[in-house]
Amino acid sequence: MPPESDAPAAAPARLDRLARPLADLRVSVTDRCNFRCPYCMPRSAFGRDHAFLPHREILTFEEIDRLAGLFAGLGVRKIRLTGGEPLLRRDLPKLVEMLARRPGLDLALTTNGSLLARHAGALFAAGLGRLTVSVDALDEELFRAANDAEYPLAAVLAGIDAAHEAGFPPVKINVVVRRGLNESQIVPIARRFAPRGHAVRYIEYMDVGTTNGWRMDEVVPAAEILERLAAELDLAPVAPAYRGEVARRWRLAEGGGEIGLIASVTQPFCGDCTRARLSADGHLYTCLFARAGFDLRPLLRGGAGDGELRERLAGVWSRRADRYSEERTGRTPPAGGRIEMSYIGG
Ligand code: GTP
Ligand code: 5AD
Ligand code: SF4
Ligand code: SF4
Repeated sequence: MPPESDAPAAAPARLDRLARPLADLRVSVTDRCNFRCPYCMPRSAFGRDHAFLPHREILTFEEIDRLAGLFAGLGVRKIRLTGGEPLLRRDLPKLVEMLARRPGLDLALTTNGSLLARHAGALFAAGLGRLTVSVDALDEELFRAANDAEYPLAAVLAGIDAAHEAGFPPVKINVVVRRGLNESQIVPIARRFAPRGHAVRYIEYMDVGTTNGWRMDEVVPAAEILERLAAELDLAPVAPAYRGEVARRWRLAEGGGEIGLIASVTQPFCGDCTRARLSADGHLYTCLFARAGFDLRPLLRGGAGDGELRERLAGVWSRRADRYSEERTGRTPPAGGRIEMSYIGG
């Protein structure tokens, strides 16, 4: 008999109502964060008296790992651990180790970097593949304004160095650009990180969670970000690597890491969106902006078998028709122009 393969069983592609396959899963491991970025967890909504989830309501590592296995069987190939701030979750490397045992999964983590210096070694040893670190400013005052928690930039830069020393490939840098706050940082961030091999991705400010008082005129359109970059750097477009890639990419003539633009507001990519999200308390969401999720916890904790759970997950995906960003763009014309197609590679 041939040896039994431990690779996930080849599953028929699960398509949603807009014919989009399920390919990646973002797993929130905690709803807490030590930053209060005004675009994500503004102090007005996440103050001292904010009720975060009690421990018992948060999925255990075993529950997350079980779901990861079921999602892999439905076509998921990439799992990104997120938060809040994922490094606040105690013993996170244990979860990474469990997930890394599952073959064929691209395992990544998005962090604000403030605790990375402490954890990079253990995360790498546990089998984490890739890291993304958010850096919205290099100017100390602007950086502290961006996190609204008095965190110094040096801690994050030390985290990025520690990741390199631990053995990680160059981390990706995420930059959320917001009008009047950090446009001045666009070029300096590219100049600092791209030559060191980091991919730098600029993200249009979005109305995440609808608690951040989002206004269209605070969005700096990707076309404008690109203009600012192209005025000072020699950029050549890079062809998309796969369907559903969220960033349009450019290469610097002098080499180094790529520059990416994530135009989630002015050029939404819902048509190719293959992402599902699992919240820390076990709700499955089929869109970043979905108001309601499917609560998996009663099934997980009520003794549901793998077959039943798999069918529920597949059912949620097959009913999916979300395209929030495209609908929003239809309602609110972008403040700036769309990216000129001549800039975009293949
Ligand atoms: P890799 O390709 O795995 O490196 O990551 P990615 O390109 O999927 O990027 P990542 O998950 O780090 O997402 C980068 C940013 O894009 C996020 O922080 C969001 O701001 C935005 N983004 C990611 N996924 C979505 C999505 O499904 N919808 C919208 N509107 N924005 C998204
Ligand atoms: N708009 C755009 N990006 C956001 N992020 C968080 N909130 C927003 C928002 N309102 C990004 C962060 C981080 C990732 C987790 O999500 O910059 O890179
Ligand atoms: Fe925390 Fe990240 Fe949100 Fe900032 S963007 S408040 S670091 S979860
Ligand atoms: Fe996907 Fe929803 Fe984002 Fe559109 S708005 S890309 S459907 S998560």
